Amino acid sequence: MRVATTSIPAAAGLRCPPLLLPFSPCAASPRSLRFLRLEQRCSMSVVIANYSCSSSSSSSSGTLNVGAVNVASTGVVGKNDLLIVGPGVLGRIVAEKWKKENPDCQIVGITMTADHHDELIKLGVVPTLRGSPINKFPYLIFCAPPSRTEDYPGEVRLAASNWSGEGSFLFTSSSAVYDCSDNGFCNEDSPVVPAGKSPRTDVLLKAENEALAVGGCVLRLAGLYKADRGAHTFWLGKGTVDSRPDHIVNLIHYEDAASLAIAIMKRNLRGGIFNGCDDQPLSRQELMDCVNRSKRYSKKFLGFTGSDGPLGKRMNNSKTRTQIGWQPKFTSFPQFLGLTD
Ligand SMILES: NC(=O)c1ccc[n+]([C@@H]2O[C@H](COP(=O)([O-])OP(=O)(O)OC[C@H]3O[C@@H](n4cnc5c(N)ncnc54)[C@H](OP(=O)(O)O)[C@@H]3O)[C@@H](O)[C@H]2O)c1
Repeated sequence: MRVATTSIPAAAGLRCPPLLLPFSPCAASPRSLRFLRLEQRCSMSVVIANYSCSSSSSSSSGTLNVGAVNVASTGVVGKNDLLIVGPGVLGRIVAEKWKKENPDCQIVGITMTADHHDELIKLGVVPTLRGSPINKFPYLIFCAPPSRTEDYPGEVRLAASNWSGEGSFLFTSSSAVYDCSDNGFCNEDSPVVPAGKSPRTDVLLKAENEALAVGGCVLRLAGLYKADRGAHTFWLGKGTVDSRPDHIVNLIHYEDAASLAIAIMKRNLRGGIFNGCDDQPLSRQELMDCVNRSKRYSKKFLGFTGSDGPLGKRMNNSKTRTQIGWQPKFTSFPQFLGLTD
């Protein structure tokens, strides 16, 4: 895939739009700039010019002389280049892993605000704001949550317009879409919540359909966690929680969710629906008992005080594992905490 070749010499007298991006000196790859359309590249060159950086870098396809504000790019999008919509916790782990597997690839991250752009640049991700013009990418992962928009399906549609149709487009959804609230078993083929029953699942299912409609795939993730993020830290922070303790929750470590997402993307599939979970569904009480037994957390969880409300489900994703050839590194939350052999 080729896009227009553009060079932006300092003396060209181009009129640039207002600065779009905060920028760390020396952090961006010149080749990364080729993804951004002319006005953004122009803007970045001005930001770069505002820093005095002693080093210059070059590559076979472009040069960036920081002091001279001279950006040249072939404008070629590589076959493994990745666009991450919502490079938050999951998206950044995906970026790191993808970069390890494809050292020459370029990664662009679309965010809602510029609040974390510095962090992304340090990770080697070129940040850009939602709605900015951008070229089409062969690999695209959508991992922005539904919480920050009134039109989540519309966000997925917008993202899909940045997919070239090659490679893979993966939308990260939630296992909440499965219609099970009696702690029963669920897998990839289980029925989803009927339309109109829950606004939350209505939104998720409509967003999934946007991805599926263009040949994208869907990864329905269980509760994501890492040491300092997830249901366990939320409940630990509260101490006492007015929910029933016997509700079964399903988990997947952020690292495993990222490795599964990448394994799916690498298969270049069209229209697949996959589940992401570990091997061991746990009741809320079992989960927090693990936290209390673990030496990682100094605070103690006091308890669940509720006795009614819907129960959960026991997820299984053996179909996904067989199809994708993937296994989690953290097979269970107790294993992650070092509570098992
Ligand atoms: N957390 C869970 O337990 C769980 C369970 C199942 C599925 N999931 C799904 O897993 C995915 C990853 O979750 P996460 O915890 O990694 O998310 P996260 O860290 O909360 O993601 C935040 C990132 O998304 C960006 N963002 C938010 N809304 C956006 C929008 N409309 N367009 C573009 N960027 C937007 C934010 O931009 P700023 O930098 O401007 O803030 C930030 O970069 C999400 O799709 C989520 O729905 C999560």
